[in-house]
Amino acid sequence: MLEINELHAGYDELEILKGITLHVNPGEIVALIGPNGAGKTTVIKSIFSLANVRAGKIIFKEKDITRIKTHELIELGISYVNQGRIIFKNLNVKENLLIGADFLQDKDIIQKDLDFVYKKFPILKQREDQLAFALSGGQQQMLAIGRALMQNPSLLLLDEPSLGLSPKLQKELFAIIQQLKDDGISLLIVEQNAKKAIEIADRTYLLEDGNIALEGGKEIIKHKKIKDVYLGGRY
Ligand SMILES: Nc1ncnc2c1ncn2[C@@H]1O[C@H](COP(=O)(O)OP(=O)(O)OP(=O)(O)O)[C@@H](O)[C@H]1O
Ligand SMILES: [Mg+2]
Repeated sequence: MLEINELHAGYDELEILKGITLHVNPGEIVALIGPNGAGKTTVIKSIFSLANVRAGKIIFKEKDITRIKTHELIELGISYVNQGRIIFKNLNVKENLLIGADFLQDKDIIQKDLDFVYKKFPILKQREDQLAFALSGGQQQMLAIGRALMQNPSLLLLDEPSLGLSPKLQKELFAIIQQLKDDGISLLIVEQNAKKAIEIADRTYLLEDGNIALEGGKEIIKHKKIKDVYLGGRY
């Protein structure tokens, strides 16, 4: 579904990603883990043309999407939830969700997507008229994910969805991520919670200093490198 081949990318002259290759199969949850500054967010930014792609290719459903414009990506079915859950705090919950559907004209489809999001996150339905700044951190994260779901993606990119959430909310969030997979959405998730990420992902890539240092299924939790990374206190 998504294929990244030998990607070199960075900012201005600075090369951050030094030739990474990874893929997401249809219906998969793929996790991208690694220490702070490894380049995880830069992978997602490269897909969205927010980083400077020097070489390599990004393919989505057999189409070359390297350096494509953001709105085209959304139309193709790729949505992105930023690190730090950016929402519009002075708009209410429903208005925030409708921004996600901005490019859609068909009212019936918008209503259907809204129903889907409210079913997934009942708290957002209860709070639909409330200003977004009055939501808790976890609810804001749900709103950010809900807004991306309004774009009806087939591939959802989540950058550190569990950041700053209590263990209980993290658990709820990971359960929702698994439901999204059951709904047929493929997911690429950047996570600092390496253990949890490996647990819910079908496959995981460990990124270190702009290179893929390790990849594998749930068994990589036992790998020495993974133990070093999170027992080393870098998470
Ligand atoms: N806009 C930018 N301009 C210049 N350098 C940047 C920019 N954004 C990120 N970098 C640098 O690129 C490197 C990788 O950053 P990136 O955000 O991809 O890391 P990350 O793995 O997501 O880290 P974290 O776990 O802290 O979110 C870092 O050294 C960072 O300082
Ligand atoms: Mg990051």
